[in-house]
Amino acid sequence: MSDRRKFLKSAGSTALFTSLGTSFFIACSEKEENIDPDNNNNISEKGFTVDGNVYKIELNHPSFSVLKSIGGWYLFNEGGMLLVNVGQDIIRAFSNSCPHQGCRTSWKYSNNNFTCTCHSAIFTNEGALVSGPANSDLTSYIAQKEDEILKVTT
Ligand code: FES
Repeated sequence: MSDRRKFLKSAGSTALFTSLGTSFFIACSEKEENIDPDNNNNISEKGFTVDGNVYKIELNHPSFSVLKSIGGWYLFNEGGMLLVNVGQDIIRAFSNSCPHQGCRTSWKYSNNNFTCTCHSAIFTNEGALVSGPANSDLTSYIAQKEDEILKVTT
């Protein structure tokens, strides 16, 4: 290979590396810029944090924003709870463990009632048993809304 070809080949690799390297550094710096330094509530990217038995839920997070609407509800499996907006700026929280046989992941919500679809037990949005094979109410948790943060104590 001539000296000229060696030089061009070497120069090409350097240019390619420089180009890719620049892209890599741009990508890294863009990722850092996406971190919200004003996230003064210390909410994780999941939209909630847990401290002992207290969950702090960010209602602006896409996973939980449905709770900002009246009638909006969310089966929050990671927290083991059912959450529902009942209006007047009130969000209620219940254990998602059905008092019948403990099903946790088969819930529906309509007409202001929760239904456990495992065996069709129905509960009001206050957690009271309406009908079905369960013989007690849902377990209620303390839920306090402050601005866009919902604090639930289990
Ligand atoms: S476990 Fe919910 S109705 Fe049976």
